[in-house]
Amino acid sequence: MAGKDITREDALSRLDHKHACHILLYADSRAKLFGKIPIKHIVLMQMRFDGLLGFPGGLVKPSEESLEAGLCRELQEELGVAVPVTIDHYVSTHLAQSPPHLILHFYCKKITEAELLEIERAAVSNAVDHGLEVMGLTRVPLYTLRNGGGLPWFLSHSFISNSRAQLLEALRRLDLVSPQTLEEAVQKAEEMRC
Ligand code: GTP
Ligand code: MN
Ligand code: MN
Ligand code: MN
Ligand code: MN
Ligand code: MN
Repeated sequence: MAGKDITREDALSRLDHKHACHILLYADSRAKLFGKIPIKHIVLMQMRFDGLLGFPGGLVKPSEESLEAGLCRELQEELGVAVPVTIDHYVSTHLAQSPPHLILHFYCKKITEAELLEIERAAVSNAVDHGLEVMGLTRVPLYTLRNGGGLPWFLSHSFISNSRAQLLEALRRLDLVSPQTLEEAVQKAEEMRC
């Protein structure tokens, strides 16, 4: 993954660094695209104010709040729901390549499809950042259609910081996409980008 992998303890001892926490929220689904292609899982990302894709979350102040409480506060602002987050949902920490002195903590949480639908509604009707910091929530297509549509095209877009690597790592770890499908999608995305 781009950026250096460090431990949570090492990160929290660096008092001169800024900390940001972001989360991948996902749910299982039995829905079918075109009535035949199983969606299987719904993964949420967002279109940011700067036109880049990323995960909900943001800067937290470890001197004033825990990482998880700070993330929960950001989720209230960006999603309109204070999705509870605990250390059980913690995945990894990276030193950002740029800007310097930024530490990126990543979380994943499985929720129900009903909870996810409620978040999608609240993101429009209740989030103070809707239309400002956040242009909209988006689901990640996890399938690959015969013409390369789906995950390959999604991966060919532009992502903030190392959020693309966070997405790929999570899809692999959580087994939301098979290793072969994922590898092929990354390869196709490369061809699409040039
Ligand atoms: P403000 O309230 O305007 O300060 O924004 P924020 O607190 O919501 O911060 P933001 O979500 O933009 O995250 C802070 C920094 O973390 C960004 O400037 C990016 O460098 C980085 N970042 C943002 N989103 C992601 C993400 O999904 N993954 C990773 N790894 N980094 C991100
Ligand atoms: Mn924010
Ligand atoms: Mn944010
Ligand atoms: Mn913020
Ligand atoms: Mn803000
Ligand atoms: Mn699966």
